[in-house]
Amino acid sequence: LHVAILMGGWANERPVSLMSGEGVAKALEERGHKVTRIDMDRQVAARIAEAGPDVVFNALHGVPGEDGSVQGMMDLMGVPYTHSGLATSVIAIDKQLTKQALVPHGIPMPGGRIVKSADLFERDPIARPYVLKPVNEGSSVGVAIVTDEGNYGNPIARDAKGPWQDFAELLAEPYIKGREMTAAVLDFPDGSRALAVTELKPKSGFYDFDAKYTDGMTDHVCPADIPDHIRDLCLEIALKAHKELGCRGTSRTDFRWDEEQGEDGLFVLETNTQPGMTPLSLVPEQARHAGIEYGELVETIIAAALR
Ligand code: DAL
Ligand code: MG
Repeated sequence: LHVAILMGGWANERPVSLMSGEGVAKALEERGHKVTRIDMDRQVAARIAEAGPDVVFNALHGVPGEDGSVQGMMDLMGVPYTHSGLATSVIAIDKQLTKQALVPHGIPMPGGRIVKSADLFERDPIARPYVLKPVNEGSSVGVAIVTDEGNYGNPIARDAKGPWQDFAELLAEPYIKGREMTAAVLDFPDGSRALAVTELKPKSGFYDFDAKYTDGMTDHVCPADIPDHIRDLCLEIALKAHKELGCRGTSRTDFRWDEEQGEDGLFVLETNTQPGMTPLSLVPEQARHAGIEYGELVETIIAAALR
C-alpha cells in the first residue's frame, strides 16, 4: 500500500502528533509499505492529491485534525482515511457535545458548565473541588484542578500563567477523586472489541502533559488491578461509547473511578477519536497486551478505513 501519514500541523498537540506519525511511518516502512509523511499546512489538500496515496493515516491530534475539518476535506477529495469520520469527530472533540451524545444512552459522565475565563477570578463557577479544561484540547493541554487547598496544574490567579490566557471559555466539571483509567477499542474485521483497562498512576500531581509524555513519570498498570465487575463495566462502556459516537478504526475512552462509591463512582471523561500512537501511548500498550504488535495495530486501523 501507499500510505500518506498526516501529522504535525499547528494544533497545540503538534509535538505529540509528530511522535505518533513517525512511529506509524516507521512501522509501515518496516512492513514494506510505501510511506509519504505530510506535515499538515494550509496546502494539505494539494499535498495529498500530489502524493496520490491509497489511504491517508490520520496521525493528527487536537484542532485542527481531530475535529472534523480534515475529515470533511478528505471526504470531498474522495480519499479513504483512517479513524473516525466527519460527524463523529465534530462531536467527540468537544467534551460538552460528547456528554450530550452519550449521557442519554446511560453512559455516566460528570456534569459540566461552560464558563467565561474572565469570570473565574470573581467566583467559583461550581463547588470545589473542580476541574477546568478547554472543551476541545487533548493531552491535558490547559487543564487546571481547583481544590479548597488551592489549585494545581495551572494556578487560578490573574498574575499566573493559566488556561484563561489562551482560552476565552473553559469547561468546569466536578473533580472526581480516585483513580484514572482508560480503555481502548479496536475495529476488527468481525467487529469492534475493547482491548483492556489500564490504570495510570502519575508519580506526582495529576496525569498532565509531562506525566503523559515523560518516560518514568507515570506507572501504567495494564491490566488494571481493579475488581472484575469494574473492569467489565469499563470495557462495556468503552465499547458502547465507540458505537454510539460512530467511531471507526480505534477510540480510547478515559475514566475516573471513585472506588468508595463502587459502580456508581465510575465516570467517563471523554472518548478520544485520535488516540496517541507514541512510545508511551496507551492504545499500542493495550494492543500489545491483547497480543497485537504495533505494526499489526497500524494495519488493523488501516484495514478498517478500507472496508
Ligand atoms: N490526545 C492524545 C494524543 C491522546 O488521547 O492520546
Ligand atoms: Mg483527550
